[in-house]
Amino acid sequence: MKFFIDTANIDQIKEAQDLGILDGVTTNPSLMAKEGIRGEQNILDHYKKICEIVQGDVSAEVISLNFDGMIREGEKLSALHPQIVVKVPCTKDGIKAIKYLSGKGIKTNCTLVFSPGQALLAAKAGATYVSSFIGRLDDIASDGIELIAKISDMYNYYGYETLVLAASIRHTMHILQCVEAGADVITSPLAPILGLLNHPLTDSGIEKFMSDYKKSCQ
Ligand code: E4P
Repeated sequence: MKFFIDTANIDQIKEAQDLGILDGVTTNPSLMAKEGIRGEQNILDHYKKICEIVQGDVSAEVISLNFDGMIREGEKLSALHPQIVVKVPCTKDGIKAIKYLSGKGIKTNCTLVFSPGQALLAAKAGATYVSSFIGRLDDIASDGIELIAKISDMYNYYGYETLVLAASIRHTMHILQCVEAGADVITSPLAPILGLLNHPLTDSGIEKFMSDYKKSCQ
């Protein structure tokens, strides 16, 4: 399973990269705004900065809602750096843009996917990743993890190469549930990833080893 970090925060991206387990980064316009990145040039510069920190794919989202704008933006984003993946919303124009961009050999991430039907169209259009939002489904009393399992089964059954990217992860259990559901990639804020490390027996075990070591040195 690949681990992406879902943030535009440079310090957190560096921290995850330093951990040695980071495979990529996803961003979206809300995450960029949260970091105070405004204006086209600053946004493009920020994507390049992220690409210089990590080695894997970095998703950069288009703002246009129509096909022409999406492909113009997508080509511009893709030309920024070889690690850029163009993130496109799952709309009619978005699916057309994914088909066009993937035909040009540009990696794409079909985002805001909330149903198997949307995921099917994304795969048929040739998306590299399909971003299925777990937390936002859970928020409306729908089962986000079940969607990951359904998409994963469907892609395996038909042999689609599109990777299931579990997004909108809110806590550590979501990551573990994604393992069982067959996600290819999780994208998560840093805290749920670090949460995987927590175990009281690890803490008490270290405490015991340290105290026994100190006793043996006396
Ligand atoms: C994924 O690529 C999205 O940017 C992100 O996971 C959305 O998460 P949220 O629902 O917590 O905003």
